[in-house]
Amino acid sequence: MTVHFIGAGPGAPDLLTLRGRDIIARCPVCLYAGSLVPKAILAHCPDGARILNTASMDLDQIIAEIRRANDAGQDVARLHSGDLSVWSAMGEQMRRLRAEGIAVSVTPGVPAFAAAAAALGAELTLPGLAQSVVLTRTSGRASTMPKGETLANFAATGATLAIHLSIQNLNRVVTDLTPAYGPDCPVAIVYRASWPDEPILRGTLVDIESKLTGDIQRTALILVGPALAGEGFDESCLYAADYDRRYRPQSADSPWASWTEETDHG
Ligand SMILES: C[S@@+](CC[C@H](N)C(=O)[O-])C[C@H]1O[C@@H](n2cnc3c(N)ncnc32)[C@H](O)[C@@H]1O
Repeated sequence: MTVHFIGAGPGAPDLLTLRGRDIIARCPVCLYAGSLVPKAILAHCPDGARILNTASMDLDQIIAEIRRANDAGQDVARLHSGDLSVWSAMGEQMRRLRAEGIAVSVTPGVPAFAAAAAALGAELTLPGLAQSVVLTRTSGRASTMPKGETLANFAATGATLAIHLSIQNLNRVVTDLTPAYGPDCPVAIVYRASWPDEPILRGTLVDIESKLTGDIQRTALILVGPALAGEGFDESCLYAADYDRRYRPQSADSPWASWTEETDHG
């Protein structure tokens, strides 16, 4: 028996991976985080599957359900929104399962930040502007931020920030980021990325608050940083005509001149 953790993606049911879909289809038990996992994904469960929304359950109850499946020798599909590597609560479940000797597997999903970038048609790492993306959040009722992980500290790097779970703290976000990024720094808020509606607000640190409407309350991502402007960046060397590289040696003297797929053992 195995508990299969599966990233269910950002909301669009067809942004589930094929692997995730196939695992769901063969698991007689499915536990899903109902606040964000799209219900349409449950259509992949086999007939007669035991399907439970864990939104109203506590950790002990979730583990009890898994134990019950384990006793019956039934595999479990455990669905969380987006990808499992960030804010999925997979870690605490896995720790309990490992302590009980229950096998687990992990299937990644499309994270919200990638869906938001797609909605914006944006590359978050533009040469000369930003080469790092920080996935972060502000403190909420359920989680405080570790010392040092402050927006001001991250802003000092100039990276693109993808700020989760924080739309209700927009004022705080603006206040903390403005000293480092400046008032004209571009900001985008993507609400329900990949859902059929997908409202996008674009602005700057100085005016984004005035653009926020009351209907955007959850499931929104705040993206901040110079790269959001989508202009004023350098072209990468990778596709530069004169860039000497393995796949495009520029001369007979190039260290790549004699390289072929067959000779590459690295
Ligand atoms: C509990 S976290 C889950 C993150 C998820 N594991 C991931 O990989 O993106 C929920 C937060 O992710 C962001 N989020 C999740 N889905 C989103 C979507 N479709 N559009 C915009 N933001 C989303 C919001 O900031 C929301 O408050």
